Amino acid sequence: MTDMQKPDTRPANPRFSSGPCAKRPGWTPEALKDAALGRSHRAKIGKTKLKDAIELTREVLGVPADYRIGIVPASDTGAVEMAMWSLLGERGVDMLAWESFGSGWVTDVIKQLKLENARKLEAPYGQLPDLSQVNFDNDVVFTWNGTTSGVRVPNADFIPADRAGLTICDATSAVFAQKVDFEKLDVVTFSWQKVLGGEGGHGILILSPRAVERLETYTPAWPLPKIFRMTKGGKLIEGIFEGATINTPSMLCVEDYLDALNWARSIGGLDALVARADANAKVIFDFVEANDWIENLAEAPETRSNTSVCLKILDPEIVKLDDAAQAAFAKAIVSVLDKEGVAFDIGAYRDAPSGLRIWAGSTVETADLEALMGWLNWAYQTEKAKLAA
Ligand SMILES: Cc1ncc(COP(=O)(O)O)c(C=O)c1O
Repeated sequence: MTDMQKPDTRPANPRFSSGPCAKRPGWTPEALKDAALGRSHRAKIGKTKLKDAIELTREVLGVPADYRIGIVPASDTGAVEMAMWSLLGERGVDMLAWESFGSGWVTDVIKQLKLENARKLEAPYGQLPDLSQVNFDNDVVFTWNGTTSGVRVPNADFIPADRAGLTICDATSAVFAQKVDFEKLDVVTFSWQKVLGGEGGHGILILSPRAVERLETYTPAWPLPKIFRMTKGGKLIEGIFEGATINTPSMLCVEDYLDALNWARSIGGLDALVARADANAKVIFDFVEANDWIENLAEAPETRSNTSVCLKILDPEIVKLDDAAQAAFAKAIVSVLDKEGVAFDIGAYRDAPSGLRIWAGSTVETADLEALMGWLNWAYQTEKAKLAA
């Protein structure tokens, strides 16, 4: 039992990381040859590229014409922090969390911003909190797709159109693979390094007219560093949302994002991106269905992510081990697949329950996931045999 038969096919691209995610099919550094390098980002050439990135984002994602789109520093984290520090405190806030990133935003609001009128609505890994309990007279902060548990909100039906508070949504592992409903969201954030396989470092912040109104009528009690400031003299700094970034962006990363957006457009836009992620996730869901040693961490089918698919090991002989031994077994599978060069970075997130996390987002090729599935069984059987020995 120590020498299992290896599958015949290997994924052509073994990159299944949940961020930075696989580059789009066919990407080479040649895609960056027109980058405005060594030029000012405020010169016409740089400004035009930044503006194009904003307008292409609007086109591909279908962002409403009256929403602002800004390129901001510090990746998705920068965009979420900027929104929370600039907007919260005017009224109570409901903080929703069901995995590590959402919990991080809860910590920031309660321990850093020290908001007293903050409510926590939390759920364990694999579940969503009771969304019917959310009070939309408060502001609401939530993550559309919990990257570290693979649990997503199925849609935005739980959000009323006539809410009094603002909805602030970290959608970094959802946009370009799942349809987020902008009319129900006042702030949407993401990073280029996720579903489009771009680079880290820059965030996108999308604001509804109501979010802009809040910015122009409310001043938080705390100081805001320059990097977070979106208003001057009580008015929105419109330039930020037209490509005049707060500080210097990487024009190499901007070029790469433009390349990813153009690829997205060339394959048919958002519908095609969503279809790719759905088809990819289905390969894993079908595998899980056919093999009883493994299960989706997300309990309810409609909450299962089509990007960050998180899996737990169900084999009774593994489950009866203590937590450390179960984690070691999952790590051994991850490690042997890495060593074989068939899958990189598919271990569960460090704070999440032990298991696997396989990225199925739009830049991943379905055939690569199909090839990987046989290897999952091979790795499981190989490690199981080692354990028995
Ligand atoms: C849901 C979620 N929020 C925030 C982040 C942090 O993103 P970044 O490193 O781009 O700031 C991640 C990264 O994986 C994430 O998945």
